[in-house]
Formats: sequence, C-alpha cells, structure tokens
Amino acid sequence: MTKETIQDIHVEKAASTRINEVDFNNLTFGSVFTDHMFECDFKDGEWKNPTVKPYQPLTLDPSARVFHYGQAVFEGMKAYRDDNDETWLFRPDENFNRINKSCARLAMPEFPESYFFDGLKTLLDLDKDWIKKGFGNSLYIRPFVIATQSGVMASPANAYKFIIICSPAQSYYGGEVRVKIADHYSRAASGGFGYAKAAGNYAGQFYPTNLAKEEGFQQVIWTDANTHEYLEEAGTMNIFFRINDKLVTCPISDCILDGVTRKSVIDMAKDMGIEVEVRPIKVKEVIEAAENDSLKEIFGSGTAAVITPILGFGYKGDKWELPKLDSPYASQIKNKIMEIQYNKAEDKFGWRYKL
Ligand code: COI
Repeated sequence: MTKETIQDIHVEKAASTRINEVDFNNLTFGSVFTDHMFECDFKDGEWKNPTVKPYQPLTLDPSARVFHYGQAVFEGMKAYRDDNDETWLFRPDENFNRINKSCARLAMPEFPESYFFDGLKTLLDLDKDWIKKGFGNSLYIRPFVIATQSGVMASPANAYKFIIICSPAQSYYGGEVRVKIADHYSRAASGGFGYAKAAGNYAGQFYPTNLAKEEGFQQVIWTDANTHEYLEEAGTMNIFFRINDKLVTCPISDCILDGVTRKSVIDMAKDMGIEVEVRPIKVKEVIEAAENDSLKEIFGSGTAAVITPILGFGYKGDKWELPKLDSPYASQIKNKIMEIQYNKAEDKFGWRYKL
C-alpha cells in the first residue's frame, strides 16, 4: 500500500543533526527524539500551516485547555527499515482512523488524511537515518493532538495542534514482565472513553501501577469497573491467554483500546492454524486454568510492546508463575508479524505500507 499527493508542507531543516550523540545499541524507550517534528494548527475551524521543522519546545499559554481539562490524544506507530534501505510502516490507516475516533470522543476536530500521511512522509524522509536496520530496531512515531486555546472555561477548545515526534526504539520493557490483576482500581468505565487513546487514560493508571510495582509487578491487567470479574487490557498492551492450545482474548468494547497489534495477532494466529476465541474472560477462569496447568501463556500486544510474554501474575495477594515453553505462541506470532514489518516475508494481509 502507498499513498501519493504531497500537500504544501512547509519544511525548515535543522542546521545540524544530533544523530551522532545517540547510542543506538542502548536506547531507553521514548527518551531520544529525531532532528525534526511535524506540526499543524487548527484555527478558525480548519487545519492549516502544516510544517516540518527542527524538534523544539512548544510555547503555550499557561491557561491552554490541554493543561486543565486534558484534551489530548495520541497514537503509537513504528517505521522499519529493510535490508534494501526502504522504509515501511505497519497498518498506518488503523492509527489514522483511531486518532480521529479518539479526537471525536474528546470533542476535538478530526485531522485530514492527506496531512497525516504527507506529514509523516515529509518528516520521515528528512529523519530516515534515524531508522536503523535490524530486527528489533525501529522508529517509534508519536502523533498527538492537544488543545491550545487559552482560557480556563471548561468547554472544548477552538484551537489545537497536531504534532508528530519520532524516537528511535528497541524494546519497550527492559526486563521480565509480571502483572497484577486489578481488584479495586479501574482504568475505564462503560460509557467512558477507555477505547480512546486519550492522555487521561494513561495518567489514571500511574498510581495503581506504582502500587503494583511495589509488589513486584510491572503492569496491571485491568478488570471491568462494575464487577472486577472480567479481564480487559493491560496498561500499555492488549492481552492474550493461551489455554491449552487455544488463544483467548477479550472483545474490544468502549472500555478497551482497539489495538492494531491485537487485531494483527488474531489474524496471524488464525492464519497459522491456531484456534482463537474472542470472548469475555473471567479472572476466575484464568486462575483455574493456572491451577490445573491448562494456562500455558499470557502475553501482551501493542505497538511499543510488540508482543511481550508475561511470566506470571498476581491477584489479591496470591501469585502464579507461567510455565517456560520451548516454542511459545508469543514468539512464533511475534516473528511472523515482524517478518512482515521488516519486509522479510510475503505480506498477504496487505499490512505493510511503503513510505
Ligand atoms: C503504544 O504501544 O504505542 C502505546 O501507546 C503504549 C504507550 C503508552 C507506550
């Protein structure tokens, strides 16, 4: 898949590059940014002034609505470089559609498709040297939208910025991942905006996740806000359970992010002949499966996390460890998806997007 038509994007090139200051073999996720950024303003009812310029701080009025009412949404995408130095994105249409769904839910204006893709192309053409070759190396792309109108009136803003910044990335989690199943705190409630990639959905998780970290877990698996009986998603990932040879994940809802990696895992697993069930999963079922040894794997999926195996979980003070398998589904599916992302395998799903 490719898209043509580059709009009139104003380009200001950085006078020099910072690339030589970066140790690409020791990257902490999301801590280093490329030389340029894309920025576009919403004013007088339309998006205007699409510009690629040197990465730089923003100047905003302290009363800008984003600071007070959290009108902020974002996306996570990755660019990959193949052995022939070509740059690829993975299902970027999904991210484009989702950022607009998130915008709509937070009463923010939708962003035009041509600006999104042309902005990305112009930006990544300039910063392509930051996309390193090799399985596991990528450029994490963070598009986001914030409300910039000044004034602390609690109503939707009439001015916004759409920005894209990029950060060279390797793995998101540095070590082993164990999760705590939530029994008190909630991430999202029915009728809320849990499905949106809204900044506030993440801020609300930090405190309970910190408590879980004190108990030795890296993430929380959220359960439904009403009963805490059903599993939903982890903080930065959708979640899969392998019970015997079957892969089970919960359906998306207005509480759960419609993950691009999640839907790719489902399609890929089915294609590999793995039985996949998308249905509500009770905490009780997972504990029983762990107790009778039918729970073989838990893994998370997400753009940043890719596919991250979960080694164990805890619930109400009890802990369970998962078995160590020779060839877990997590790594089989991850490899298949990465082969498509890095242009090493046929892309029969049409997921790869040439930039
Ligand atoms: C992503 O996977 O892109 C995410 O948005 C997770 C993020 C909070 C690091």
